[in-house]
Amino acid sequence: MARLYQSGIIATGSYVPDTVVTNHDLEKIVDTSDEWIVSRTGIRERRIAGKDMATSDLATKAALMALKSSNLTAQELDMIIVSTVTPDMNFPSTACLVQRNIGAVNASAFDLEAACSGFIYGMVVAAQFIKTSVCRYAMVIGAECLSKFVNWKDRNTCVLFGDGAGAVILGRVEDDYGILSHILGADGKGADLLALEAGGSRKPASIETVEKQLHYIHMDGSEVFKFAVRIMASMAEKVVRNAGLSREDVDYLIPHQANIRIIEAARKRLELPEDRVYVNLDRYGNMSAASIPVALDEAVRLGRIKKNDNIVMVGFGGGLTWAACAVRWAV
Ligand code: ACO
Repeated sequence: MARLYQSGIIATGSYVPDTVVTNHDLEKIVDTSDEWIVSRTGIRERRIAGKDMATSDLATKAALMALKSSNLTAQELDMIIVSTVTPDMNFPSTACLVQRNIGAVNASAFDLEAACSGFIYGMVVAAQFIKTSVCRYAMVIGAECLSKFVNWKDRNTCVLFGDGAGAVILGRVEDDYGILSHILGADGKGADLLALEAGGSRKPASIETVEKQLHYIHMDGSEVFKFAVRIMASMAEKVVRNAGLSREDVDYLIPHQANIRIIEAARKRLELPEDRVYVNLDRYGNMSAASIPVALDEAVRLGRIKKNDNIVMVGFGGGLTWAACAVRWAV
């Protein structure tokens, strides 16, 4: 049998739009308060893309930054996966638009949809191609323009989300480095808990779907919350075990950034001190598939993650879906 290679992250990049919307700004739009939002979620502000900006624009900026950090050229990429629930359009894929924008003429390109778990899903998919030498370098991007799908009159959802993009390049790494273990999971029984109902083949866009506001994100927040607390803590623990590590071996946790109380559940299960968990939720809100790669890129650039560190990434999202991976940092 041909040799299998370890795959790992060799470069990161990220981008968030300049426009900041604070909780106080939202107090002027809906019946909410900074105090409510901070105490229930941990979010203080979020970034919002401009009218002319779509998900591929954010993704392209993150991709170029990751390429710059890698010293690779765009032509050296064999694959581009964009994980998103907010593509520019139904088709072509956002990944094809990024491929064009960065000139990655040798890369296959496709989108992957697993909601907030999408970035880890994408990374695990790309890793299989690297492992088997089908690809030498693959780029995985989590990118979202959630602000375009949020009902800015619905206080239950509009306070939670933000826009941004994070990218990584995966390549071969030394044995014992890179992705050590991963978990991907789904439970379609919870599909209705978090959805954007219209605009697909079930409910194509019509005057009725617009009038019923079915093109916005709808969420049963408390049910999603209960699921998230349970799954984040248990998957974080399980992926560490699957990697042959113990809790003490974990150097850093990069969780999905949906709610500080959900992050705390995962942190406590791993018995990590607060300074070993990267949190940017206060500045960006929930960026769905972009949350983990943006947090990862920031942590790398701040020097919080260094070679040999054992990193755990864990997320959950619509679907319902969940995903986790344990990574030994290789660069
Ligand atoms: N400001 C003020 N009050 C609000 C707001 C707001 N922005 N939003 C909701 N409320 C009110 C509700 O109307 C409700 O009032 P009522 O009791 O009078 O009906 C009450 O607050 C709701 O209270 P709780 O349900 O106790 O609020 P909770 O502590 O559960 O927090 C939250 C709500 C933040 C949504 C939480 O449930 C949560 O974080 N859920 C998880 C959401 C999530 O992570 N989604 C991620 C998936 S995203 C993706 O996959 C694309």
